[in-house]
Amino acid sequence: MDKLIITGGARLDGEIRISGAKNSALPILAATLLCNGPVTVANLPHLHDITTMIELFGRMGIEPVIDEKLSVEINPNTIKTLVAPYELVKTMRASILVLGPMVARFGYAEVALPGGCAIGSRPVDLHIRGLEAMGAVIDVEGGYIKAKAPEGGLNGANFFFDTVSVTGTENIMMAAALANGRSVLQNSAREPEVVDLANFLNAMGAKVSGAGTDTIIIDGVKELHPATYRVMPDRIETGTYLVAAAVTGGRVKVKDTDPTILEAVLEKLKEAGAEVTTGEDWIELNMHGKRPKAVNVRTAPYPAFPTDMQAQFISLNAIAEGTGAVIETIFENRFMHVYELHRMGAKIQVEGNTAIVTGTETLKGAPVMATDLRASASLVISALVAEGDTLIDRIYHIDRGYECIEEKLQMLGAKIRRVPG
Ligand code: UD1
Repeated sequence: MDKLIITGGARLDGEIRISGAKNSALPILAATLLCNGPVTVANLPHLHDITTMIELFGRMGIEPVIDEKLSVEINPNTIKTLVAPYELVKTMRASILVLGPMVARFGYAEVALPGGCAIGSRPVDLHIRGLEAMGAVIDVEGGYIKAKAPEGGLNGANFFFDTVSVTGTENIMMAAALANGRSVLQNSAREPEVVDLANFLNAMGAKVSGAGTDTIIIDGVKELHPATYRVMPDRIETGTYLVAAAVTGGRVKVKDTDPTILEAVLEKLKEAGAEVTTGEDWIELNMHGKRPKAVNVRTAPYPAFPTDMQAQFISLNAIAEGTGAVIETIFENRFMHVYELHRMGAKIQVEGNTAIVTGTETLKGAPVMATDLRASASLVISALVAEGDTLIDRIYHIDRGYECIEEKLQMLGAKIRRVPG
């Protein structure tokens, strides 16, 4: 297993390019299943999760064609089996995103139940109930969700999400694109990735409106046609590099991104004392050598502060001036990074869903272990300012969500290297 060794103390300074959004690329790849013909998706990030999705397609008999820039062409008409097996689903929960498109397009799907994960129980009941509302008959047996569309296909439905769910909204929106009649999805997730997916569906001829608000209206169409689509930039990768620069007192310009999709994060960085300037597709953060000020953060569905940036802000608070409270309202058990940060000398107390972080001037390098994707980002960030070397183990978690993290950080002047384990 590869490890990362980071020698702290370098002030980050430079420019990097932001990759395509993982959380947009995954539903968009799943949505290609809805198309009657080949679809091309561009700006896919080079990540393990994307490879897993492509492997899943391979298992179903679809052979995606990938070019050197990682644009992928998928022709779902070559599908042979309608099963997403457990070996793949267990490694990536987002595999559940193929459920809605498969039932809508092919009338049947068998998708393994994702099971537990490091950041909480994460059920999929809303995905199932949404499809049932459209007339699907669903049995959960032997660890698999077996879903069958009624004769004549899924029917449009009014569905209310009693919890805001990003992939839940995406799954039902995709299924509704080919259903008979109108669907109205209330209390939908408003995340930019939901909007990106809606734009992709519309590029294939779907009739989706209201994405980005809490009510999405989908008028089902008989079939979707081939299209080419470019995935939006990754707002979490963007935010992670901005925080990395901030903790080192440094400067970074992130390019090929979109400042309008991470306003809550940019506000918190300004509150922490960063100078933030933005252009149409870039953001520059400059700390002018200062230590950040601690900030209070409360995670909630978009447009509020994202749970996927919570761990990084705990790292920021850990070396900031003052004390900041970080409240996690989306997932239970998403503070695993705190216990690793303790090993580096961070002063963090967890009570229920709140972490009280008291900034200290120095952290100390230590051997630590990545526990989930964003938790591992927070370990990298803390290592960048810690005295001495930090050895981060289990970095496959990082590779699921950060393209070329060591190359990008090296370009900014960080002392980071990967060692094969
Ligand atoms: C997505 C993101 C993930 C992010 C999360 C919250 C992808 C691939 N992943 O995950 O990076 O951290 O949104 O922004 O886009 N819930 C239910 N029943 C369900 C589904 C969800 O109760 O059927 C609950 C979950 O337990 C959680 C909350 O809803 O408490 C939000 O989860 P959800 O938005 O569904 O997260 P994901 O879509 O899995």
